Amino acid sequence: AAVELGPYRHFMQKEIFEQPRAVADTLDDITGVTSEWFGDGAHAVFTTIDRVLILACGTSYYAGLTAKYWIESIARIPVSVEIASEYRYRDSVPNPSTLVLTISQSGETADTLAALKHAQSLGMGYTLTICNVQSSAMVRASKLNFITRAGVEVGVASTKAFTTQLTALFLLALTLADAKGKIDSEEEIRQFHSLRHLPSAITAVLALEPQIIAWSERFASCENALFLGRGLHYPIALEGALKLKEISYIHAEAYPAGELKHGPLALVTDQMPVVTIAPNDALLEKLKSNIQEVRARGGELYVFADADTHIKPAEGMHVIRMPEHYGLLSPILHTIPLQLLAYHTACSRGTDVDKPRNLAKSVTVE
Ligand code: G6P
Repeated sequence: AAVELGPYRHFMQKEIFEQPRAVADTLDDITGVTSEWFGDGAHAVFTTIDRVLILACGTSYYAGLTAKYWIESIARIPVSVEIASEYRYRDSVPNPSTLVLTISQSGETADTLAALKHAQSLGMGYTLTICNVQSSAMVRASKLNFITRAGVEVGVASTKAFTTQLTALFLLALTLADAKGKIDSEEEIRQFHSLRHLPSAITAVLALEPQIIAWSERFASCENALFLGRGLHYPIALEGALKLKEISYIHAEAYPAGELKHGPLALVTDQMPVVTIAPNDALLEKLKSNIQEVRARGGELYVFADADTHIKPAEGMHVIRMPEHYGLLSPILHTIPLQLLAYHTACSRGTDVDKPRNLAKSVTVE
């Protein structure tokens, strides 16, 4: 294992740093926006369906939540996202013109596979799996598929599989928009180019590691943490909190920042760090007032701010500046520092990072 790890301490760290390569490989043959990358007959399916149902578990579920924002805003198709173990046992109302989209690193998660088969048994035949393993049960059970090329992921807490899923999902949003005539060709090319820019953008974010290590020492002595994001970045706040829970055993919760006053503000004291994702988007001004609500109560903020947000460090407010502003792809870039924060916090606490207690890489039994 020492050889395979190279200069890294754990597989998780290695896999975090492999992300520029994993995303580049996932996009390797992709020369433009066309249905053919999703399998034979994809174009006919994409022009027929009028809604999307996403089914997944764990980190893959958060990729699905992010995809909802992209597909609804770019392709204008309504999307619902469900935790697979809930959907499979729920009395839902099936609709045959639904694209059933399962997302899974392994393609073997029992609940997600059963949810897919449940949807099929209800008469929904338009199925697509985004998966990291070509030979998996979920890929075999689906009509269409897209294979991410993260490579083998050893760390139980998913990292590179998540960012490659997001890469594939953004490509899917563009493809659905194209199939439905909802995007003009200039905008499509612009968005496709920004997708291709991801590997170098991720590399620049990875260079923030020393600053994040400095923060992690403070986090290591906490028992609770709060993560805030809005819009497209709410699922990323959820993923950041999940990573911290999984590997450092710190209790972490994520909230859409607008919900602060409906509960979590009662928990804010100087004992609880509040991690805030602050991209320079349409919600920035609202987020700044959420930040003030936390500061007014003595909360200590740890803010990841885009290059041009004018959020400055101050008493009780720590800021790490992201190298760029990333537009619609911003959730992918904002994921990276949260992975690093969880990783280094766990290292300071001396946990078994690659094999956290009670968790399995792939949950193939219910
Ligand atoms: C386990 C893993 C997670 C993963 C989830 C879903 O809980 O620890 O990292 O997100 O399963 O796995 P899948 O292979 O379906 O993406």
